[in-house]
Amino acid sequence: MTEHLQIAIDGPAGAGKSTVARKLADKLGYLYIDTGAMYRASTWLALKHGLSLHDGPAIAALARRTEILLAAADETSDGKIRVYVDGEEITRDIRTQKMSEQVIPVAALKEVREVLVEKQKELARQGNAVLDGRDIGTVVLPKAGLKIFLTASAEVRAGRRLKELNAQGENPDFEELLAQIKDRDHKDRTREVSPLTMAEDAIEVSTDNLSIDQVVDKLLALAETAKRSTV
Ligand code: C5P
Repeated sequence: MTEHLQIAIDGPAGAGKSTVARKLADKLGYLYIDTGAMYRASTWLALKHGLSLHDGPAIAALARRTEILLAAADETSDGKIRVYVDGEEITRDIRTQKMSEQVIPVAALKEVREVLVEKQKELARQGNAVLDGRDIGTVVLPKAGLKIFLTASAEVRAGRRLKELNAQGENPDFEELLAQIKDRDHKDRTREVSPLTMAEDAIEVSTDNLSIDQVVDKLLALAETAKRSTV
């Protein structure tokens, strides 16, 4: 039987999860699954079909019957993975500031979470994988061989988000972004279904004073000694 390692990376918005997770997966040659992109894709689908962003059963049914494909990032996708729904590319559409707000109610819907968690488990079953999100270590892969909880102060995260949005041609106010980050943290941590919490066996890593590459190196060292399992 082959030994596999599943790495769960959770943490609040803007801690650097997706960049770190993608680089880590690249270095290890593992599959990278950006679960936030799946919540964003489901929100995009709901909007396209004119559904209420609070209609759990309808959005869940739509997400279930739609193929959500996560493809590798390249130089034209700003380092983000490419996302397709039933063949239509939505990579950029799901990364706007507006979408970051619209996804919040959708990610709080129990029915939607059930469908997406199932899809995530199925993808992770394929072998070695790095998954990032809010509930990977607690709900999606409670038996992951390595669980990381990536954090950073709200100020550092707002600064990073500002840079990212500036690069996309958006010009938001820093204070407003900071308030939004704090509000999103609060909603992520207090929502009823799968709130953002650190798994008991997760290792907390703060990215405040570390570069992306330093964080990746740290996680690579942790992956070396992590527990492999047969899946
Ligand atoms: O990580 P990202 O910002 O792309 O996530 C988009 C939204 O999906 C966030 O509001 C986050 O709370 C939610 N999410 C979630 N569970 C995950 C991944 C993301 O609730 N596993």
